[in-house]
Amino acid sequence: MDHVVVYQPIPEFLLEKLQQKFSVSHFNKVTDDNRSEFEQKVQGADGLLGAGWPITRAFLDKAPNLRVVSNISAGYDNFDIEELTKRGIMATNSPDALTETTADLIFGLLLSSARRIAELDRLVRMKQWNGAIKNKHFGVDVHHKTIGIVGMGRIGRAVARRAALGFNMKVLYHRRSRDKESERMLGAEYCDLPELLGSSDYVCLTLPLTDSTYHLIDEQEFNQMKPEAILINGGRGPLLNEEALVTALKNNTIMAAGLDVYEKEPLSHDSELLSMRNVVLSPHTGSATEETRTQMAVDAVENLLQALQGETPMNLLNPEVE
Ligand code: DGY
Repeated sequence: MDHVVVYQPIPEFLLEKLQQKFSVSHFNKVTDDNRSEFEQKVQGADGLLGAGWPITRAFLDKAPNLRVVSNISAGYDNFDIEELTKRGIMATNSPDALTETTADLIFGLLLSSARRIAELDRLVRMKQWNGAIKNKHFGVDVHHKTIGIVGMGRIGRAVARRAALGFNMKVLYHRRSRDKESERMLGAEYCDLPELLGSSDYVCLTLPLTDSTYHLIDEQEFNQMKPEAILINGGRGPLLNEEALVTALKNNTIMAAGLDVYEKEPLSHDSELLSMRNVVLSPHTGSATEETRTQMAVDAVENLLQALQGETPMNLLNPEVE
């Protein structure tokens, strides 16, 4: 019987489904206390299911039987894909279920940053709302402004649709190739990165983290943005240089930011971002709804089942291994 190691909580019905076909070791979380037991189980594993765990060459050396690693997430920057492929191990992700949910959160961060919802919520709670709100607490409009989407993939397109059709915004985008459909359907305009940064009221990062997107937004790029620009990061933390972001916010190089992801997660308790008024912070919750997280787990289990049953998983990232 194949052995599967699950290293994240998944719904009971999915665990039962796996247990009907495989011997299953389940870890809700890998900690210092259970790490050696986890590593021992991994040694005999045919399949792994979870999210975020770094699947590196050194880790793979400890998993000689492995045939598939199934990520319960769209992002797979925790995978050494080249190494997995070299060893003939299938890698899968679960990108379909979270598109609209993540776009909702990104738009929530955008609205909250522009209209200062989180900041003014704090003011009310601190009993500092003592009369009509003054100019110093005014926000800025979202409707009819320009949004620049960096990385027009599934999530970028879902954000663009909300912006163009819901808020009458002009949509600029930047990615490796043109997206003719978004151009036709949403009037989106392709730009190079400096042009997008210089023309957008809202700059929205929705691209994956790779060697070439690491610190894509750094001091030079902040300097290219408008002083009234608001930056939203719903992709991965290291897409931007967090230190340069803090400096840009302090110096009013840009106006505000809405962040769901960070260079180091969870965000360090001494991060300067925590004390900044003009930043909205959410704890990597892009896909975190009951419905979406369940569907992502369903998809990831399906990928794992398909791989171990000799079929092609629906979200295979390295088809070369087949
Ligand atoms: C993803 O699936 O990549 C989301 O960021 C949640 O991790």
